[in-house]
Amino acid sequence: MTKEVAVIGIGMTKWGELWEKSLRAVAVEAALKCLDDAGVDKVDAITVGSMSSGLFNAQEHLASVVPDYLGQRLVPAIRVESACASGGLAVKTAYMEIASGLSEIVLAVGVEKMTDVDGGEATFALASAADQDNEAFHGITFPGLYAMMANAHMHQYGTTLEQLSQVSVKNHHNGSMNPHAQFPFKVTLEQVMNSTQVADPMRLLHCSPITDGAAAVLLAPVEVARKMNKPYAVITGIGHATDTIALCQRKSLCQLPAVEAASQRALKMAGKTIKDVDFAEVHDCFSIAEIMVMEALGVVEPGQGGPATMNGLTALDGDFPINPSGGLKSKGHPVGATGVAQIVEAVSQLRGEAGQRQIKNARTALTQNMGGSGASSITHILEAR
Ligand code: COA
Repeated sequence: MTKEVAVIGIGMTKWGELWEKSLRAVAVEAALKCLDDAGVDKVDAITVGSMSSGLFNAQEHLASVVPDYLGQRLVPAIRVESACASGGLAVKTAYMEIASGLSEIVLAVGVEKMTDVDGGEATFALASAADQDNEAFHGITFPGLYAMMANAHMHQYGTTLEQLSQVSVKNHHNGSMNPHAQFPFKVTLEQVMNSTQVADPMRLLHCSPITDGAAAVLLAPVEVARKMNKPYAVITGIGHATDTIALCQRKSLCQLPAVEAASQRALKMAGKTIKDVDFAEVHDCFSIAEIMVMEALGVVEPGQGGPATMNGLTALDGDFPINPSGGLKSKGHPVGATGVAQIVEAVSQLRGEAGQRQIKNARTALTQNMGGSGASSITHILEAR
């Protein structure tokens, strides 16, 4: 490692159905907000995270589209893809660009515009992140895959529908205070448990939605950040791991080995344990995912995610707040943008700028972003300076 890397700027668009805006307009809006936040108008390189702009918008080659429409022509740019972990990977790629000494000021943008196609086409595009031969070809969808994980968890540990539903209640509560959220409203346990069935046992309110949106972060060496005289956060750990693409090839449907491996690597790099972390933004694409991720992170023992959620451990004022932003459930899930937006929330909390959803004394954050049913996962550790 040659350099310590800081996040010197953050920006994101409102998330939801952005009918009036194009894919490029959404990406550029987030990028400009981020540059404005940092007070920077020229970057040395750009990374773009997007899962499937080809299937959603018939527009590939975002590594040219984004710099072009951002007024940064001739800048080197890379698009990265790892399904719903594309955003986290864009941040890692930007980090590596700086740590290697290749570039100094690097912009990471995550973007997805998913509502330009109908629900069936969006489901088809998302299913391309599953194993085509063993899963998608046979008609399985992501709600279906996570429903199998939920059923297995319920069977093995006695996790209940009420516990799954409490994840959504908590995240909608947090999201109701987030002006960028797609669904900034509170829901009750009864509403979640009685919402329309999507894939047994999961109801509509256990699922993240189909979303348009973008997020951006600006990275620079810490010595550059120091001279800017503005609050910044330092990325002190990054861990990344992959697992079998098909869920059926895992030893257990109740564990997420890639999340565990990636998070242990990130914590080791930061010289920390999970006990040193003040809060986390995690990939709650479905309520069961948040429960399984908190177990994989070691926040609780396997099987204890459901009871701990009911007991308030992960609430905004709990001992280990999870998803203060509202998570994917309430904030939305424009797949390629999600991992970048997790860093936006983490930095906003570490800078003490999260308004009504501010976590007291937030100094160390963990973000966890995963692709598919846990076939790829990336964790970042960020610290306030
Ligand atoms: N949470 C809360 N409300 C939701 C919602 C969600 N996840 N998804 C849709 N809604 C609302 C809509 O706003 C709409 O409300 P309205 O009638 O008041 O306008 C209503 O529910 C119906 O919306 P619609 O778009 O027709 O829903 P749908 O049935 O086509 O899709 C899901 C619902 C859950 C199937 C879809 O959101 C989905 O596939 N989610 C998972 C996405 C995914 O797999 N991501 C990758 C994760 S790995």
